[in-house]
Amino acid sequence: MEINNKKLKIISITDLKFNKKTFKCHSDALNHYFYTKASQDVRKGLTNCFVMIDEYNKKIVGFYTLAPHLINVSDITLVKGMDSGGYKHIPAILVGRLAIDKNYTGNRLGTLLIIDAIKKTINSPTGAKTLIVNAKDNSINFYKRLNFKSFNEEKNTLFYYIPKDIEQRYRK
Ligand SMILES: CC(C)(COP(=O)(O)OP(=O)(O)OC[C@H]1O[C@@H](n2cnc3c(N)ncnc32)[C@H](O)[C@@H]1OP(=O)(O)O)[C@@H](O)C(=O)NCCC(=O)NCCS
Repeated sequence: MEINNKKLKIISITDLKFNKKTFKCHSDALNHYFYTKASQDVRKGLTNCFVMIDEYNKKIVGFYTLAPHLINVSDITLVKGMDSGGYKHIPAILVGRLAIDKNYTGNRLGTLLIIDAIKKTINSPTGAKTLIVNAKDNSINFYKRLNFKSFNEEKNTLFYYIPKDIEQRYRK
């Protein structure tokens, strides 16, 4: 499929006009979530959900969810620049789900969604500077390439502390 990057747009799921069922990623569980639960969860105030659309091909490219979270400081090894301030918990933003449609994988679009999540975190009023994800076994390395670090005892839970230079680059 021809992808025109200028025609890719990230919108809130509440503004989505395309039929959700046209989206298909490699995970049936994530497809099911997107078709049946994502909008409901947003309505209930449980998460936010953002969708990348391809306005050129009129397709849904991918989606991800964001929700507030807390990390137990004892569950992680602090990375450079990170300081828990002596607190037991630090605030984080959870990328609960993330998926790219089968026809669009391998084009750095999953990476673009993570960058969008980082930008939103930097510009959110929460003050959190850490992202957290619960990765499926086969996607741990996708996150590791993006510099996410596994929790001490749980390799499928990973976090990313936003470094100063990235924060400066994306702050609006
Ligand atoms: C995982 C997923 C989001 C990746 O999306 P994508 O757009 O294909 O990823 P990108 O093109 O941005 O990949 C960036 C890099 O990660 C690599 N990568 C992508 N998926 C990977 C995976 N599952 N494991 C290891 N590396 C992976 C790519 O090869 C690429 O490497 P490069 O920088 O050397 O070229 C997508 O395959 C997907 O939706 N999978 C099904 C659902 C899922 O597993 N979601 C993860 C949330 S738990």
